[in-house]
Amino acid sequence: MSGDLQFDSQGRLHHFLTTEGLDRDTILQILDTAESFVSVGEREIKKVPLLRGKTVVNLFFESSTRTRTTFEIAAKRLSADVINVDTRVSSTTKGETLLDTIRNLEAMHTDLFVVRHSRSGAAYLVAQHVPSHVRIINAGDGSHAHPTQGMLDMFTIRRYKGSFENLKVAIVGDILHSRVARSQIHALTTLGVPEVRVIAPKTLLPTAVERLGVHSYTDMRAGLDDIDVVIMLRLQRERMESARIPSEQEYFNLYGLTTDKLRLAKKDAIVMHPGPMNRGLEIDSSVADGPQSVILPQVTNGIAVRMAVMAIIMGGKAQEEMPAKRPARRHA
Ligand code: CP
Repeated sequence: MSGDLQFDSQGRLHHFLTTEGLDRDTILQILDTAESFVSVGEREIKKVPLLRGKTVVNLFFESSTRTRTTFEIAAKRLSADVINVDTRVSSTTKGETLLDTIRNLEAMHTDLFVVRHSRSGAAYLVAQHVPSHVRIINAGDGSHAHPTQGMLDMFTIRRYKGSFENLKVAIVGDILHSRVARSQIHALTTLGVPEVRVIAPKTLLPTAVERLGVHSYTDMRAGLDDIDVVIMLRLQRERMESARIPSEQEYFNLYGLTTDKLRLAKKDAIVMHPGPMNRGLEIDSSVADGPQSVILPQVTNGIAVRMAVMAIIMGGKAQEEMPAKRPARRHA
């Protein structure tokens, strides 16, 4: 799947489907724009009029807590009219195809679709079939991509670590099935992070993963050595055709993040997780709720980042009316 579809003929971001192929400037534009939207969430009246009169449809064919809700909040903060389609009771249960569902919602003058689907490529398929005035954001497609999660993770890393230039980042867990890991790896390598490691049992690492520009480790203790950012991933059981770990207890012993293992990373390392978390399987509660965890700030940052992506792809007027940029803040 190529990212070309997400740019218009003048090279402007038109849809947001993947972090693969995004250049550094576009990623930084999203992060800087998100920075300018943080203040909106801190006001008493948390609204700007950038998408007033626009209709945003959240179309989630797969479960979600964080992504769906933060997209809804983000669109409302931009003053858009937001519709959440409950796909469990939509006509897809009667056999209507994805594209027919989109065509019907488009006939209601939808301007932007936020699409999550269990099939890799679903958002691409939709983007290929909508007229040019309609925009598509991929909110997660199978094991392929989750680009706004990747961007909010970059935003969180920059807020806590200041820049990307000297970082060592480790992504731990089910890399094979993780759309989040793919989106993070493309963004981290484009932003110039000098060392990105993936840590997992062999059965949960994609073949030739090093081609993505990462170093792979099967020994978590070795992989965590001197790391600045630890990103834990959930075991994606819904995407596994057969068991890929001998037992949950053994997985936790070898790959679960505990305070003991976290001591191998740098003293000021931050711990991230895109959620949903499985406590006691990939992460111990003492770490998830501990002082180095930035897991809940990730969720909060998702609002500003999703506002930024929506404002940028809706283009024109929205960009002229954006709040003034603020410098990145560093949180200890
Ligand atoms: N990180 C993430 O995509 O979470 P949800 O599945 O709850 O949206």
